[in-house]
Amino acid sequence: MNKILKLITLFFLTGLLSVLSQNKSPIYLDATKPIEERIEDALSRMTLDEKVAMLHAQSKFSSAGVPRLGIPEFWTTDGPHGIRPEVLWDKWEQAGWTNDSCFAFPALTCLAATWDTDLSFLYGHSLGEEARYRKKDILLGPGVNIYRTPLNGRNFEYMGEDPLLSSRMVVPYIKGVQQNGVAVCVKHYALNNQETNRHTTNVVLDDRALYEIYLPAFKAAVQEGKAWSIMGAYNLYKNQHACQNQYLLNDILRGEWGFDGVVVSDWGGTHSTSQAIFNGLDMEFGTWTDGLAVGTSNAYNSYYLAKPYLDMIHSGKVGTKELDEKVRRILRLAFRTTMDKNRPFGSFDSPEHSSAGLKIAQDGTVLLKNTSNVLPIKLDKASKILVVGENAIKMMTVGGGSSSLKARYEILPLEGIQSRVGAQAKVTYTRGYVGDPTGEYNGVVTKQDLKDDRSSEVLLAEAVDAAKDADYVIFIGGLNKSDYQDCENTDRAGLELPYNQDKVIAELAKVNNKLIVVNISGNAVAMPWVNEVPAIVQTWYLGSEAGNAIASVLFGDVNPSGKLPFSFPAKLTDVGAHKLGEYPGKKEDLANKRDTVDVTYNESIFVGYRWLDKEKIKPLFSFGHGLSYTTFQYGKPVSDKTEVRADGHITFSVNLKNTGDREGAEIVQLYISDLKSSLPRPLKELKAFKKISLKAGEEKTVELTIDKSALSFFDANKHEWIAELGDFEALIGSSSSDIKGKVKFKLK
Ligand code: GLC
Repeated sequence: MNKILKLITLFFLTGLLSVLSQNKSPIYLDATKPIEERIEDALSRMTLDEKVAMLHAQSKFSSAGVPRLGIPEFWTTDGPHGIRPEVLWDKWEQAGWTNDSCFAFPALTCLAATWDTDLSFLYGHSLGEEARYRKKDILLGPGVNIYRTPLNGRNFEYMGEDPLLSSRMVVPYIKGVQQNGVAVCVKHYALNNQETNRHTTNVVLDDRALYEIYLPAFKAAVQEGKAWSIMGAYNLYKNQHACQNQYLLNDILRGEWGFDGVVVSDWGGTHSTSQAIFNGLDMEFGTWTDGLAVGTSNAYNSYYLAKPYLDMIHSGKVGTKELDEKVRRILRLAFRTTMDKNRPFGSFDSPEHSSAGLKIAQDGTVLLKNTSNVLPIKLDKASKILVVGENAIKMMTVGGGSSSLKARYEILPLEGIQSRVGAQAKVTYTRGYVGDPTGEYNGVVTKQDLKDDRSSEVLLAEAVDAAKDADYVIFIGGLNKSDYQDCENTDRAGLELPYNQDKVIAELAKVNNKLIVVNISGNAVAMPWVNEVPAIVQTWYLGSEAGNAIASVLFGDVNPSGKLPFSFPAKLTDVGAHKLGEYPGKKEDLANKRDTVDVTYNESIFVGYRWLDKEKIKPLFSFGHGLSYTTFQYGKPVSDKTEVRADGHITFSVNLKNTGDREGAEIVQLYISDLKSSLPRPLKELKAFKKISLKAGEEKTVELTIDKSALSFFDANKHEWIAELGDFEALIGSSSSDIKGKVKFKLK
């Protein structure tokens, strides 16, 4: 009897085992296994064709997975401040979907101007939720190129002129996005500091400028933000395109920084199969297109990393070592995104995103000037408010190039002001000037009809006439993300405001002493009328909640706390890139229409306030400048030690008091000055900051701690960061030019 029992048991057990072993998923699909094991298992199962197919686009914004193995495709999307509407599979035209609008966040200059790392996380997390909900796996942003010239068409997408501010502000954004299981793609790595000749500019600069100014934000993105992908830039460096660049991708990004993610080309940034193979490119997109609107159709198999690569392998010209390295990195990206079963589901156009966008827009708005406290507008003293300017009525969530959006809604400045004022006063509007009546950008039709054939004289006369008996005049102008006015692929021609705005502002100032100028831009602009205008507000492309944000600041619901992430030079020759050149490039290269145009960064590390300090030039408004509706009083700063050892830290503390009659936030900035150095160094450099909110009358001690890295410079000969022993000075300020106190100390 028991023999039969044994047989039955044996039979049952073997049956169970075979069932279990069939259910046992292969390693690459087993989420309990370490990612590196899953990568090797998946790689071992892939054919040569499947590996090569993963390296390049299959449509405008997607690349292949491995259908046979159930490894999903990758879907990418622009952009850094909102999820782009769908285009057709192989055409730039709008796909015409009805579920692909988005919440438009403020552009990244606004985020930088908040100097608030908590808001940066909120921004990234909210945007990542929208990307995830739209089933996008790679978000093509953020951009962190340093603002070398105020003419650069894409500065509005970036975080200003200072490497420390950009570094601190980009890290939380990355963590926020990637917590949704969506990869960031930090761009444009590196040295994409102008749009003029962006595909052919060959940047020439010294290693100090490269390491001290242009790389830090990318390094922070990789080493602190743990970015899962990076986008190569269009321009060249050392005569190699940045998307296939031995120095930037192999030596620095991977060799020095240990980047384990994927390098994605900019759209159309790949130019050679062998350079793409050996110089570190992993995913090729947009080849044979200009990355914006025109391109060859269905060219995917002729991409540099497609059939030409396969042919080189089949002919024995190249091996498959580099191919496997690339596929390993792409599989790692898959296990972090498309194949992460636990990633959240995201959300789309939620009230939370609206309030996040509003908060960022409010806190990034900068009060530049406010003589005789014209602001905030007191509605009990205003019966007639005149609003002037095209930017009060023009949609700004469109335009600017690839970051253009199809926002579900956009509160325009005039609308925001009207809804805020309600019946408390009469709000009237005059155009003042005509700028860009275009109503279509990247295929998104705004349905706005801004056509106005009246002459500038008539428009001016109408505005001046209306201003004479208004209690307040709010001029809302600036730039507008149309071509040459803060737009990808085109730089501005000069620092001046376009469309006759300076004339309108100057004339309005003559007839009304309660004129407020609200400048909307992503770059500094000249302000010849700066002394005639009592109140000036710098704000940005604020996205869907623009009108509500601007109104809340103008009427005092919000106390402005933003600070400038870049300097406002009075004139272009006050900028190193323009004083020393070269911009936009070497004259003979431009004249001879050479294939590549050298642009030598003769100003080296002296960018922004570093240049202004060196040349003792007073800017219109300084880096880090921003006023409040309250006032702050700084005590005398002190340090916890007078000597700091190379492996130690030093903490500076300063008492800060809100001496005004309302709550407000101040951004305390710490600059470091190396009093004696073997190499020329900037007079001071931002090395720490803290944003602190205080109630009326409240005071707190603010502490800022630094270590040796804040004292170091990059020694190009030794190719390493050096902190020289000796005397240093800490400068605590409310801006780079408003220093409240200094503390000397020694590095032992
Ligand atoms: C564009 C831009 C890049 C964008 C990409 C896809 O040309 O340079 O920032 O993400 O192509 O649109």
